[in-house]
Amino acid sequence: MGLEEWEGSIFGVEGFKDRKNRDTYRMLKGEEGERTCVENGVEYSLRVGDGFSVGLFLDTSLLREYVKGLEGRCLNLFSHGNAIAKAKGGEGVNVDLSEKYFQRVEGWKNIVDDVWDYCKRKGGKESFDVVVCDPPSSSVGKKRRWSTLKDYPELITLLTPLVSSSGLLILCSNTKKQSRNEFLKQCEKGFEMAGRKGVLERVLGTEWGWWTEGVKIFVWRLE
Ligand SMILES: C[S@@+](CC[C@H](N)C(=O)[O-])C[C@H]1O[C@@H](n2cnc3c(N)ncnc32)[C@H](O)[C@@H]1O
Repeated sequence: MGLEEWEGSIFGVEGFKDRKNRDTYRMLKGEEGERTCVENGVEYSLRVGDGFSVGLFLDTSLLREYVKGLEGRCLNLFSHGNAIAKAKGGEGVNVDLSEKYFQRVEGWKNIVDDVWDYCKRKGGKESFDVVVCDPPSSSVGKKRRWSTLKDYPELITLLTPLVSSSGLLILCSNTKKQSRNEFLKQCEKGFEMAGRKGVLERVLGTEWGWWTEGVKIFVWRLE
């Protein structure tokens, strides 16, 4: 964050290693506790001082703004604090491995599950007009490790059966180790493996500032 943004913020958190070399954090500015904030007219609840994830990721603000205008039932994968659901409204399903950050959003169901297990179970049985997939760069799920750099095409094969005909599949990658072009190639490989055609309808940018560097958001229309 640049100095100007830092001065304007209500809190600051810094990460460091503790004596046992574990990642931990400390507050640099502000107080711990529940807060609300308004972004583009939508109110979000934040949990400040409980780790790094306060419930809202600033680098995906453009995504939240984009989904606000979308119609139809939505599947929000790797939903975290359900900010996408809050921004979009309507009805849908949030899926995340961790229950800790889930917030209640009217019209939306919260499911605690591994995204792979959920998609395998529901693929072909249920479909959504909009599917949002915003995974971390890497993680350890119930049975397997996930790496954006290696596993995205395979994940796409599990996602496409959940997208209705002419539905939208919104794919996000937030690793700096991958260029836009490399992510584009991964997506195309995934559609090819899935045997489903995806047309790139929109690219949501990283034009905001250096803190969005690495964020790539592609909106695909599936046939
Ligand atoms: C980058 S955050 C997602 C941010 C969220 N989309 C938003 O807009 O606020 C990543 C989330 O993925 C979840 N996660 C990681 N691996 C998972 C898995 N295998 N299945 C389900 N959720 C997972 C984590 O618990 C975390 O909440």
